[in-house]
Amino acid sequence: MIPESFIQELLARVDIVDVVERYVPLKKGGANYQACCPFHSEKTPSFTVSPSKQFYHCFGCGAHGSALGFLMQYSGLGFIEAVEELAQSVGMPVPRVSERVQNDRAKKAPLTELMLRAARFYKDQLKASPKAIDYLKGRGLTGEIAARFGLGYAPDDWQGLQQVFPDYEDTALVECGLVIVNEQGRRYDRFRDRIMFPILDQRGNVIAFGGRIIGQGEPKYLNSPETPLFEKGRELYGLVQARQAIRDEDAVVVVEGYMDVVALAQHGVGNAVATLGTATTTNHVHRLLRQASKVVFCFDGDAAGRKAAWRALEACLDQLADDKSAGFLFLPPEHDPDSFVRAEGAETFRTLFRHPTTLTEFLLRELKAGVDLATAEGRARLVHEAKPHLQRLSATVLRVQLTKSIAEAAALTQAEVEAQCGLKPLARGRAAPPPRRRTIEISQLKTLLKAVLHRPERAGRLPLAQIDSESAEGATLHAIADAIEHGELAGGNMGQVIEHFRGSLHEPLIASLAASAATEEIDSGEDEAVFEDVMKQLRKADLSARIAELNAKADLQGGILTPDQKAELVRLLAAKTRQVAG
Ligand code: UTP
Ligand code: MN
Repeated sequence: MIPESFIQELLARVDIVDVVERYVPLKKGGANYQACCPFHSEKTPSFTVSPSKQFYHCFGCGAHGSALGFLMQYSGLGFIEAVEELAQSVGMPVPRVSERVQNDRAKKAPLTELMLRAARFYKDQLKASPKAIDYLKGRGLTGEIAARFGLGYAPDDWQGLQQVFPDYEDTALVECGLVIVNEQGRRYDRFRDRIMFPILDQRGNVIAFGGRIIGQGEPKYLNSPETPLFEKGRELYGLVQARQAIRDEDAVVVVEGYMDVVALAQHGVGNAVATLGTATTTNHVHRLLRQASKVVFCFDGDAAGRKAAWRALEACLDQLADDKSAGFLFLPPEHDPDSFVRAEGAETFRTLFRHPTTLTEFLLRELKAGVDLATAEGRARLVHEAKPHLQRLSATVLRVQLTKSIAEAAALTQAEVEAQCGLKPLARGRAAPPPRRRTIEISQLKTLLKAVLHRPERAGRLPLAQIDSESAEGATLHAIADAIEHGELAGGNMGQVIEHFRGSLHEPLIASLAASAATEEIDSGEDEAVFEDVMKQLRKADLSARIAELNAKADLQGGILTPDQKAELVRLLAAKTRQVAG
């Protein structure tokens, strides 16, 4: 855990303009900076960075966030990693609640060093091995692509690595999986006489290897074991090399094997990554959907590939939004992506890629295939089987579409399926409770919240007693005011507010309003005028409410007010007169 106060301090210290500029050249335009958006492809700049709000926003694709958010979105870093990266750039040591993590990092550094040295060695060995070069050529690869993926060759030698690791006894070599110790205590290279595929993490560090046997043999691929650097089922092979293409196409292809990624890249399909024979996890999907709005799974055409696709579908359900899609591409049974692109060419592959089986099509097809729709029992079973999937599907509009299709197949109405599956209909109709009379409209709260996001110190001026925290907007205003009062957002800007509430229940609302606050360029005096206007309306509503309250009291007391109450009423009425006049 990194203390929240540190994150706020960090965001107060960095300037988002510097952070973004390290990756994207910015041009000044008015109060803000502009560039062509790095998150979608465009010719005219609609990506804006606001130094006053410490916030970026793209008018084209809607990407937005703080300096931390930018690092996460641009580099695909996780939150902690982004904090570390940012802190490092301004020379702030990251305090840790737990020492363990820091120790871990300190331990990892020398290991990545070893892995890099090994990768260089394998690469050099490839240049010296006609047999390995011939193998790669035979699989249709050029030197350029081999270099791009850092391919290498582990020589046919029990202690080949000794050439670059004079201290071959170093236990770190065992720890990072390069060297194996047998029962007699003898040490030898794990990888021998194999084509080497380095696996990189998202920063580009070599964290593991996959080694393919040349020709036939078992095992076909030998992989690094789990090490402090390498956690299986987390990494995606080829992500670093594919990042730019993924961004340009706003789409990513997920395949199963090393060779699939490399062969696709060889044919100009650069946006492919591989799960390396493990099942697709929600973590994979989450990371990919952060970088592209479309993920297409392209697995082998055999039964195993189909099963893998189903697992991928399950990993997608709760990661999708209505603007993010997942598709499936099923190749003929005799092919994998590598052999397919070699046999049919990149254009054919691209055409298929543009029209994948959609997630709902695939889901429906599989569900229907398992039941007999000609019988009432079969149709009931369909709804039963669909239920957990419908419940997990996070894209709300898509869920309604799917519900409709299930309903149609089951010969039920949409409402019946929804009721059976415990789903909330999209727009609440008659079920909604009668609206309580509010003194403050939600739209007014929204305006206040936006104004507060622009200048968080405004939260200190809010008439909090009047704002009930039943609505999300009200609750969020209270939460921001609270944070300001407790000095948690010292000198806060929008970026700091966003990070303060990251992961909290206020996050979604803040994120969506921050985006729309950024599109409304009301940073001038107009902004303050809008805020003041709503505040005035509220004061007015409050006055009227209190006058009405006193009048009601007077009624109860037989038309008689106490002297105090009378004085208050006089004061209120005077204030009201001033308000009307003003
Ligand atoms: P495949 O058997 O489909 O291999 O395994 P491939 O990618 O088509 O490889 P080539 O074309 O024969 O060279 C898919 C992935 O599963 C993992 C590897 O990551 C491989 O790329 N795998 C497979 C292993 O880890 N070990 C194995 O023995 C086989
Ligand atoms: Mn293959």
